[in-house]
Amino acid sequence: MRLTAPTTALLSLTSAAYAQTSSSTDPGYDCHPTCIPSTVAANASATLSFGRHYAVLNLDLINALVAPLANTTAGAAFISNTADWITAVHAQVPAPLSIFTRIYFANAHQPELGPDTPFAAVGGALGAANDTETMLYPAFHVDAAAGDTVLQKTRYYAGAGNALEEILRAQQIDTVVLSGIRTSGVILSTAYRLFDLDYTVYVIANNTIETAPNDPDINTNILAGILPKIPVAVITIEQAVAALNRSGPAIY
Ligand SMILES: *[C@@H]1O[C@H](CO)[C@@H](O)[C@H](O)[C@H]1NC(C)=O
Ligand SMILES: *[C@@H]1O[C@H](CO)[C@@H](O)[C@H](O)[C@H]1NC(C)=O
Ligand SMILES: *[C@@H]1O[C@H](CO)[C@@H](O)[C@H](O)[C@H]1NC(C)=O
Ligand SMILES: *[C@@H]1O[C@H](CO)[C@@H](O)[C@H](O)[C@H]1NC(C)=O
Ligand SMILES: *[C@@H]1O[C@H](CO)[C@@H](O)[C@H](O)[C@H]1NC(C)=O
Repeated sequence: MRLTAPTTALLSLTSAAYAQTSSSTDPGYDCHPTCIPSTVAANASATLSFGRHYAVLNLDLINALVAPLANTTAGAAFISNTADWITAVHAQVPAPLSIFTRIYFANAHQPELGPDTPFAAVGGALGAANDTETMLYPAFHVDAAAGDTVLQKTRYYAGAGNALEEILRAQQIDTVVLSGIRTSGVILSTAYRLFDLDYTVYVIANNTIETAPNDPDINTNILAGILPKIPVAVITIEQAVAALNRSGPAIY
C-alpha cells in the first residue's frame, strides 16, 4: 500500500496501536487494490468549486461502525481524512451547512423496524439515542455554534425518517459533498437519491470505506465504476479541500 504523508504521521504517533494491522485485507479505501481516479480531471480540478449553496454530509460516523475499524490501516486513514475534512469545513467563514447522521431508533422497541423490515438485518442491533454505539465517533467534531445539524436515520438512505430533504430545500442547497461509512450503504443510497432530486453530488473517495467482511473490491467498484456512471463526481480529499477555498462564502 501507499502511505501518504498525513497517514504516515498518524501511524508514527500511534504506532503501538497498529502492531496487528493488515493493509492488504482491509475492506476500506487506502489505494488498495488501486488508487481511485478522480472523475474531475486535473485541468478542471484547478477551478473546482462547490458554489455558495452547498452542504456537507457526514454520514453514519457512529461508534458501532467506526470503532471496529480504528485499528486497521485503512480505517485509521479514513478516520484521519474525514476528521481533517470536517475541520477544514469548520474553518470556512461563514461555515457551510454540515449535516451528520446517526442510526438509532425511537426507543428500545425499535418501532421503526417491523418484524419483516429488511433493514432490521443491518441496523437492528442498534438502540435508542442514548445507546453509545449510535453516537458519533469521538474523532468527529460537531460544531453546534456553526449550526451543524445531527439527524436520526432509520434506513440506508441519509434522508430516511428525518428532515434532510426539508432542510436542504429550505436552505436552498444545490450541491452536496458526501463522506461516510459504508460506501455500499449510506453513500451509494444517498448519492442516487439526491442525484434524482436534482442535487449536484460529490463523494470524497478518501472519506469512504467498507466494513469487514466486505471485499475491498466492493469499495473500488462503487467509487470507480458505479458512482461515475450515475454520474456522481468522485473526488479526492485534496481536491475537496482545495475546492473549499474557491467555494462560498457559504449561504447558510
Ligand atoms: C486520497 O486518495 C487519492 C487517490 O484517490 C490519493 O492519491 C491520496 O494520496 C489520498 N489522500 C490522503 C490524504 O490519503
Ligand atoms: C480539460 O481537458 C479535457 C481534455 O483532456 C478537455 O476536454 C476539457 O475541455 C478541459 N477542461 C477545461 C476546463 O479546460
Ligand atoms: C484498538 O487499539 C487500542 C489501543 O491498542 C485498544 O485499546 C482498542 O481496544 C482497540 N480496538 C479494537 C476495536 O480493536
Ligand atoms: C436509554 O434510555 C431508556 C429509557 O428512555 C432506558 O431504559 C435505557 O436503559 C437507556 N439506555 C442506556 C444505554 O442508557
Ligand atoms: C485553503 O486556505 C487556507 C487558509 O485560507 C490555507 O491555509 C490552505 O492551505 C488552503 N488550502 C488549499 C488546499 O489551498
